[in-house]
Amino acid sequence: MTATPDTDARLLSAGEVAEFLDRRARMPLLRFITCGSVDDGKSTLIGRLLHDSQALVDDQLEALAADSARHGTRGEELDFALLVDGLSAEREQGITIDVAYRFFASPRRRYIVADCPGHEQYTRNMATGASTADLAVLLVDASRGLMPQTRRHAHIVSLLGIRQLVLAVNKMDLVGHSELRFREIANAFQAFARELGLEDVAAIPLVAPSGGNVAHPDPHMPWYRGPTLVEALESARTDTLANPDLPARLPVQWVNRPDSGFRGFAGQLAAGVLNTGDAVTVLPSGRQTRIAAIHGAGGTADAAVAGESITVELADDVDVSRGDVIAAADHPAEASDQFEATLIWMDDAPLFPGRPYWLKIGTRTVGASVTAIKHRVDVNSLQPQPAKSLGLNDMAVVTLALDRPVAFDPYESCRPTGGFILIDRLTNATAGAGTVRHALTRASTIQWQTLDISKATRAAMNGQKPMLLWFTGLSGAGKSTIANLVEKKLTAMGRRTYLLDGDNVRHGLNRDLGFTEADRVENIRRIAEVGKLMVDAGLIVLTAFISPFRAERRMARALMEADEFVEIFIDTPIEDAERRDVKGLYARARAGEIRNFTGIDSPYEPPEAPEIRIDTRAMSAEAAAEHIVAHILKDEFLGISP
Ligand code: ADX
Repeated sequence: MTATPDTDARLLSAGEVAEFLDRRARMPLLRFITCGSVDDGKSTLIGRLLHDSQALVDDQLEALAADSARHGTRGEELDFALLVDGLSAEREQGITIDVAYRFFASPRRRYIVADCPGHEQYTRNMATGASTADLAVLLVDASRGLMPQTRRHAHIVSLLGIRQLVLAVNKMDLVGHSELRFREIANAFQAFARELGLEDVAAIPLVAPSGGNVAHPDPHMPWYRGPTLVEALESARTDTLANPDLPARLPVQWVNRPDSGFRGFAGQLAAGVLNTGDAVTVLPSGRQTRIAAIHGAGGTADAAVAGESITVELADDVDVSRGDVIAAADHPAEASDQFEATLIWMDDAPLFPGRPYWLKIGTRTVGASVTAIKHRVDVNSLQPQPAKSLGLNDMAVVTLALDRPVAFDPYESCRPTGGFILIDRLTNATAGAGTVRHALTRASTIQWQTLDISKATRAAMNGQKPMLLWFTGLSGAGKSTIANLVEKKLTAMGRRTYLLDGDNVRHGLNRDLGFTEADRVENIRRIAEVGKLMVDAGLIVLTAFISPFRAERRMARALMEADEFVEIFIDTPIEDAERRDVKGLYARARAGEIRNFTGIDSPYEPPEAPEIRIDTRAMSAEAAAEHIVAHILKDEFLGISP
């Protein structure tokens, strides 16, 4: 703002400034995202929006200042105060990571805009920004029309539950401010949006660089009588995420140490209103109790509304841990370990059904895998397509299985408790974002049957410690040869064993699987599960599969008890395996007759910390088998004795 320090009319009292700032802090907050393809003019539009709306605030301040002839804070200081106000508000909202968030205000509202880059590889940022937004501004270049990225972003917006959308048809000057062109784009988009269930779409023709229809009507487009972009933002519904009208949901972020003498459970109230005395259900356990006390930012309170960070005390001493959800007892959240969800894949590494990931929902993180891809959705036609794996930016309907039940709501009914992310276990990067559609009935109808004869009984009858000897290595490394020798030695010693061999199992149980990454993941998942059953049957199980991926070997390990899994890396350099080429497959792979051959055009990820590593250059197969048996006997000695 332009303050002239020498005129008294431009000075405000400290009290007035405080009042102005206080009023601003209480103004509604609209969170929105801007998205669209690269080059649609997003940065220019945001710059314009910030500039023009700031001018609106400045006008208001000017008016306020002109009203006041009293002495006090100077204009420049006020500007500074506004800036600090903006920054602290941003911090207060707990904003993080890779999306550029900007804070600005108009006379009536505060705004946080998440500027999401338009490149394909930034879908992740787009989804991050969208997950907390009330509204999306989707930019289109009037001269280029709707692009695949426009549709993709509209799709993500709808998946993530944003129900208010502004289609900003930018660069209208490039099409001669043509009403016909505008209608053509707007109509095509409206039809697409309706299929996505987006009803509330406002199309606005813009010229961002000159500010046409941003804050002021554009004189070149008198045919347009709708709202300017700022007007559309000013009238949109705010606080659509932390909705006080929904049943109460408090995902527990933090639990007081029991020895502190105070049993408090802290978190941000994600939805609804909580009152002292309210009956609540703790999920997933289902235990019921009442709210004994609520502590908020301003001390003890009778009630709290969605969006507030609170600590509650409960009337009974029920078990509550971090990640649980405290929910209104009359409308509790659901709990399940299997559900159907919509998933957006954001990782360069493809998603394969059966591969283990971490799933984070609310404040809880659990192990999870996709059990099936029901279909992938084509971004342009919205038609379902079959898929065996998901690539970067793919969207799909999938079923998931978790390693324990979590509390959730269908995303349609409550966004904060129905959205989740999938995390890659090796890189810890967010690999996908999803929304829960519904729990699978099989999760509640199929229960674990407790049987009277246990693994320990069978192990004792066999007089051995059951375990899984997991051989891994290149084709032709010598896995089957060495495993075979180990089994013979164990049998000679009276042990009960079973050898699962890659080539053999692929003739029966895994006859339907080939050598794509997706099929190998499934191959190993089945072997790990079968191995687990056989160990449970009391056997010493040997598996001889290339098992090229760390993720699946890790999954197999996680299925077993800590001392039951022995990873044995048959370390043969590819040159040796290829020179021997017992089955003649390397030659055929080199000749291009076999595709996806491990070590040639399909990767092998060597184990990082195997229990046993056999260097076949330094050790004969016989010596290797001796070495492995010695290791097993040592384990047996430490475990149950025969
Ligand atoms: S894994 O990768 O899924 O673990 P698995 O051990 O079951 O593979 O099968 C490997 C065996 O299948 C090899 O020893 C080889 O005989 C045969 N095979 C046929 N095609 C391929 C291929 N493209 N890559 C690797 N092995 C293949």
